[in-house]
Amino acid sequence: MFRKTQVNQDAGKKRAALAALAYVDHGMALGVGTGSTVDFFIDALAEHGHRKLRLVSSSERSTERLGRLGLDVTELSAVGDVDLYVDGADEATNHLHLIKGGGGALTREKIVAGAARKFVCIVDRSKLVGRLGAFPLPVEVIPMARSFVARQLVKAGGQPVWRKDFVTDNGNQIIDVRNLEIANPVEMETRLNQIPGVVTVGLFAHRGADVLLIGTDDGVEVMT
Ligand code: A5P
Repeated sequence: MFRKTQVNQDAGKKRAALAALAYVDHGMALGVGTGSTVDFFIDALAEHGHRKLRLVSSSERSTERLGRLGLDVTELSAVGDVDLYVDGADEATNHLHLIKGGGGALTREKIVAGAARKFVCIVDRSKLVGRLGAFPLPVEVIPMARSFVARQLVKAGGQPVWRKDFVTDNGNQIIDVRNLEIANPVEMETRLNQIPGVVTVGLFAHRGADVLLIGTDDGVEVMT
């Protein structure tokens, strides 16, 4: 049963990733996200020979995979605005609000998403939810602030859990917040962003996706 579900999810991820290729034009500045869904996208990019792209990566993991496939990465500062950003998500709503950061790359992902003219989010059907928050919300914190931030997250109604033995690409730590009532994602993102020591909240609501590509059992649904 688990195996079948996993296979279906992977098929959905791959369908969504391949569908994102249609948004890629030669010569564009393309932001590449992070995660198992994006891995399918990176592999497809390499296969389809988009060599003239200026690629910006959201993590060391994606940079490494791109490099292995012969795709060089450029610094965001050298590129300026990004034409298109393609990334996955841990949860997505039909308002195109997202939870991201399951892989711990949320800060660079939020930077590249912020710099992007268009954000295409690629997910399999299991990621689509009515309300965000069943997936624990990742929050990247400055290490010295971890306990302080955790206490503030309790006041916000969540149950913070330190992601032990994990250091982000930026040298910081992650707190995963369980059972947070996220009735209004924009307000919650604003509120948690105010806590000193928080680097990035894994809510992508102020800057959500522009297009959501949902890989299903037999095709791809598009939400805008
Ligand atoms: C990485 O930090 C995350 O934001 C990913 O984009 C998200 O976790 C989706 O990952 P998968 O594609 O592996 O499900």
